[in-house]
Amino acid sequence: MGEFAELTFRGRTIRLPVVEGTEGDTGLDISVLRKELGAITLDPGYANTGSCRSAITYIDGEQGILRYRGYDIAELAEHTSFLEVALLLLRGELPTRDELDAFTASVKEYMVVHEDLRHFFNAFPKDAHPMAVAGAVIGSLSTFYPESMDPKNIDESKESCRRLLAKLPTIIAWSYKHSLGRPMTYPHHSLGYVENFLHMLFSTPFREYVVDPVVARALELIFVLHADHEQNCSASTVRVVGSSQANMFASISAGVWALWGPLHGGANQALIEMLEHVRNAGLTPQQFVDQVKTRTASIRLMGFGHRVYKNYDPRAKVLKKAAFEVLDKLGVHSELLDIAVKLEEAALKDEYFIQRKLYPNVDFYSGIILQAIGIPLTMFTAIFAIGRMPGWLAQFNEMHRDPDTRIARPRQVYVGQARRDFVPIAQRG
Ligand code: ACO
Repeated sequence: MGEFAELTFRGRTIRLPVVEGTEGDTGLDISVLRKELGAITLDPGYANTGSCRSAITYIDGEQGILRYRGYDIAELAEHTSFLEVALLLLRGELPTRDELDAFTASVKEYMVVHEDLRHFFNAFPKDAHPMAVAGAVIGSLSTFYPESMDPKNIDESKESCRRLLAKLPTIIAWSYKHSLGRPMTYPHHSLGYVENFLHMLFSTPFREYVVDPVVARALELIFVLHADHEQNCSASTVRVVGSSQANMFASISAGVWALWGPLHGGANQALIEMLEHVRNAGLTPQQFVDQVKTRTASIRLMGFGHRVYKNYDPRAKVLKKAAFEVLDKLGVHSELLDIAVKLEEAALKDEYFIQRKLYPNVDFYSGIILQAIGIPLTMFTAIFAIGRMPGWLAQFNEMHRDPDTRIARPRQVYVGQARRDFVPIAQRG
């Protein structure tokens, strides 16, 4: 037996094998705990629970490190395209030029959605949130492609991966068009993945949207930075749902809805709303930080804090720099960026935030870039979903290839009523 930890409980001692990761992560394998000691672990929010072994993404939250398949996020952000990163996450290696070209061409082919599916959009209210529409339409893809739904079948999974990657931008753009009461724009073969999304979002039959390369690159950067983040809430949701052998479309639609929450992907929208509130209420950044600290209105500084990062989120570092560059190139001045920078300064020197190791996360500057490039506020979380798709797919596939995978089924410590006698309804009251 290799290294182990000893655990003594009520007079019995057991050995728990130590599992070492390649970058020094250490886990204690507690899978025999209940059988041997009759006890389980209790870990609300799973903050100390490893749910799997994974070779996709590495995070060192103390140092502020993020790597996809071993490559540093800042390098990937500078040098790669989104579909290149998608292939890296899905296959484990960076593609050659030919591989990337072939993959890009096949994804572009799949961007168009089944014509019958287009009619679904008419059934949603005009003010339907794009994340609600995206989750519903993605789930419905399972009714169109029943022949590619076996999660254990590698070829079927590849097919579904391409469909999901390709169709989400179309679904999101069409949900926006529906909200405006405008005709849906089809993807165009001459355009790249990101350009096509912008084209479907903004072109109309009477006015072609000419894609500005600065805008396309900024959006691509945001997609790359969001592509995976190991066992976060939505990726874990995808794994939990998929562990029942539910198909990829069902599992990914659950992930979309998990991402929607304001404590997860919904924070980028909440961040802009917060900055607008600070501006409209005429608050100084320090006054707002003070309000957050008093906790009376249970407000949080959105875009700050992270379960894993106890240091500056490396994605926020890249995005802060990019925010200034993009705004400069577009000749845009953003009052909200000024407020954000001052809020960051006020928070980073405040004892409340220092003590709790709260730093800007990915959402703190992404919203400002999205706003500057003309993305409507209600679409922000949906942009995150497009970016996160490769990660969800890679996590789903990895789980299905892992021989240790079992259906996800946590336990509980029951704290309700002990057994009591049933009281017939006539005798209650
Ligand atoms: N503003 C003010 N206080 C905060 C913030 C914040 N943004 N984040 C955490 N805290 C405080 C908590 O009140 C808590 O204080 P306490 O120990 O005195 O009770 C302490 O810091 C620890 O916070 P938890 O909520 O326990 O941390 P957890 O790891 O559970 O939550 C989370 C992480 C959800 C990201 C949290 O920091 C938060 O709500 N941030 C704002 C929302 C946000 O930006 N979400 C996006 C996250 S990144 C992503 O999903 C893409």
